[in-house]
Amino acid sequence: MSEADWWKTSFDQRYLDTYLHGFTPERTKQEVDYVVKTAQLKPDETILDLACGHGRHSIELAKRGFTHVIGLDYSETFVTKAKADALASNVAVRFIRGDMKELPFENEFDAVLLLFTAFGYFDDESNKRVLGQINKALRPSGRFFVDVVSGEAVIERFKREGVTDTKIGQPSIPRQVDMGGHMVNEVEWFDPDKQAIHTHREWQDGDDKKEYDYYLHVYTMPQFERMLTDAGFAITETWGDYDGNPHLSEGTFRTILLAKKV
Ligand SMILES: C[S@@+](CC[C@H](N)C(=O)[O-])C[C@H]1O[C@@H](n2cnc3c(N)ncnc32)[C@H](O)[C@@H]1O
Repeated sequence: MSEADWWKTSFDQRYLDTYLHGFTPERTKQEVDYVVKTAQLKPDETILDLACGHGRHSIELAKRGFTHVIGLDYSETFVTKAKADALASNVAVRFIRGDMKELPFENEFDAVLLLFTAFGYFDDESNKRVLGQINKALRPSGRFFVDVVSGEAVIERFKREGVTDTKIGQPSIPRQVDMGGHMVNEVEWFDPDKQAIHTHREWQDGDDKKEYDYYLHVYTMPQFERMLTDAGFAITETWGDYDGNPHLSEGTFRTILLAKKV
């Protein structure tokens, strides 16, 4: 799978199994509390949970009485699980497969949510296209809530912890990570020109070895602001975490922001 298409295959059952333990119901509830409060979501509004994964936020919204929630994700594995979880929770959410670069919506939603680092998977042009698609999907004055890893925090982290990979001349961070009880070898490289992280993971289950690559373009707040303005948004508020601490304040690593379609 090429760098351009990595996102088509990397969000599979194994990704789900390893991340699922971190998505506690408490965490999802805290995130939904925060989004509902700050974006002032109302139960009768139409909401698009973009790159919804296995639907944890959509399902939590539906449990709170939100009746017009659509979750969209490219991964068939995730959408299948989302549908099964909604059924098991006895709530109605429409889950569909789709590509965030080609959204089949125009002027339909009061709010679009893009949660837990689901932005920055493509080259700069396509990432900007995603923002344009979100803008098109929203009604006038619609809200866009996004939560990604902070570009500033990533740049700092590689300056602090990166060791130069002499083969490619980029700072890298090799490590062993505990992924849901399974130790995995991982290397992250940071390309400072593209502001892109390439993560390579190797899984070994007995004789079964599988390698995964993930690519993430990160943006600083001024870059984000520029892209959002160009896509027809105005930023309303920004934070550095779900406790409401200011963006870039001590100990925060996220860029969480609310924007409005202008
Ligand atoms: C880090 S997960 C976040 C999932 C979810 N928002 C959550 O918080 O649990 C990123 C998601 O983006 C989805 N994704 C990746 N590329 C996509 C694309 N082109 N269009 C739609 N979804 C995509 C993946 O399948 C995955 O579910």
